[in-house]
Amino acid sequence: MTFFFHPVKSLFLQKKNLKVYIETYGCQMNVADSELIASLLKEKGYSLSEGYEDADLILVNTCSIRENAEQRVRGRLKLFGSLKRKNPDLVVGVVGCMAQRLKDQLILEEKSVSLVVGPDQYRQLPELIESARNGQAVVQAILSSSETYDDIVPVRYDGNGISAFVSIMRGCQNMCSYCIVPYVRGGERSRDPESILSEIQTLKDENYKEVTLIGQNVDSYIFHGQETLNFHALLEKVALRFPDMWIRFSTNHPKDLNDHLLEVMSRFPNICKSIHLPVQSGSTTVLERMKRGYTRDWYLDRIQAIRRILPECTISTDVMVGFSGETDEEHLDTLSLMEAVSYDFAFMFKYSERSGTWASRHMKDDVPEKSKVERLNQVIALQGKVSERVKKEDIGKVFDVLVEGVSKRSTQQYFGRTSGNKVVVFPKGNVNKGDFTRVLITSCTSATLIGEIYEQ
Ligand code: SAH
Ligand code: SF4
Ligand code: F3S
Repeated sequence: MTFFFHPVKSLFLQKKNLKVYIETYGCQMNVADSELIASLLKEKGYSLSEGYEDADLILVNTCSIRENAEQRVRGRLKLFGSLKRKNPDLVVGVVGCMAQRLKDQLILEEKSVSLVVGPDQYRQLPELIESARNGQAVVQAILSSSETYDDIVPVRYDGNGISAFVSIMRGCQNMCSYCIVPYVRGGERSRDPESILSEIQTLKDENYKEVTLIGQNVDSYIFHGQETLNFHALLEKVALRFPDMWIRFSTNHPKDLNDHLLEVMSRFPNICKSIHLPVQSGSTTVLERMKRGYTRDWYLDRIQAIRRILPECTISTDVMVGFSGETDEEHLDTLSLMEAVSYDFAFMFKYSERSGTWASRHMKDDVPEKSKVERLNQVIALQGKVSERVKKEDIGKVFDVLVEGVSKRSTQQYFGRTSGNKVVVFPKGNVNKGDFTRVLITSCTSATLIGEIYEQ
């Protein structure tokens, strides 16, 4: 999953001159949820507005995955508290994963906060907001076993008008021993395929060119309707119905990634050739303690299957260093696996103990901070070298690219992404934002491919 370390832009809504501002942290699921919230509020008569400092209501959509994700939000809440001192009618609400984890503790600890709503209770937001505006402290954080919000059409307030996330499932029940997600998002629920298809149709009608189907473990998508549909069958349906759109998905789980999915990907040119397959560790003993459900050899076998069935496919990952009891040898296994796989890209983290998880109850967070930092620096340095090597191999190749917009560095250049999710910058030529074009790669920087439109 992609992480947003900075607030993902903001939303302003207005109801009877009431302005609402939403700030989003965490993963793609939260981005999609903020779009749901926008839709729910709009439906109840709120309208879009602009302005930040003069907001009457601030909603912060939060993440609990690591301690530093929560600290960042707490910093923002302090800032919003200073706004509240100037404007006592201001309501500050916390939604999302921190709301679910901390519930009324948030009201007690954060003076600015009077509204706390968990991820399965957003339908009630308009009423809860009214209560908070009437001076009540409101906490609503009950998880649901069925809520998928499948009848709500999200408002894409922060998009580029070309690419959108479509949530296909909620929750997770893998119970990896370090992870807070199952506790703050609840059990896994898959969304009705008809509502997924109709949401994508709406996007197509609005001229979107790409969708990313999102869930914490898309491989375990399963919907029992008139027919039972698993993930690769859903993907095939989407690819067939929308041949002119690019289809992406995230996140796959190594224990569940099967060859059927890879074969469906190989048959459809509009299914993007990129897989995010978080490994966490290259050591079988660490993976066992993490309760990930696979071994190093299993993971490497899945990589081989991808390379065999989809030779052009890019592979990215998440790596976590310093998990409970991780020895130097186990850490070296992670480095050797990263070298062997040659990932195109990796998100890399230090283990952060989360209260309530299996690991926090049964294991010690015993790798010293200094070693965690050293190990993190080592994986970052190694991945830097690998990414550079992999990028250089692309020089001289021609890629299909979806043009996403004007490059930040020069108004004369566009940026876009390849099917393999690689960012490419190139002179504008005769194409427009939203077009598919072909680009010849001529050079690269550490993060970006540089090229020119390929005319032949
Ligand atoms: N569902 C996805 C991951 C979602 S969380 C999967 O299973 O792959 C995204 C990433 O955050 C994880 O892959 C992991 O690398 C990291 N993460 C999760 N819990 C963490 C913790 N307690 N400390 C540090 N990193 C963590
Ligand atoms: Fe967390 Fe594991 Fe679920 Fe991913 S699969 S969200 S790491 S419990
Ligand atoms: Fe996502 Fe963070 Fe919640 S990773 S599911 S926003 S804990």
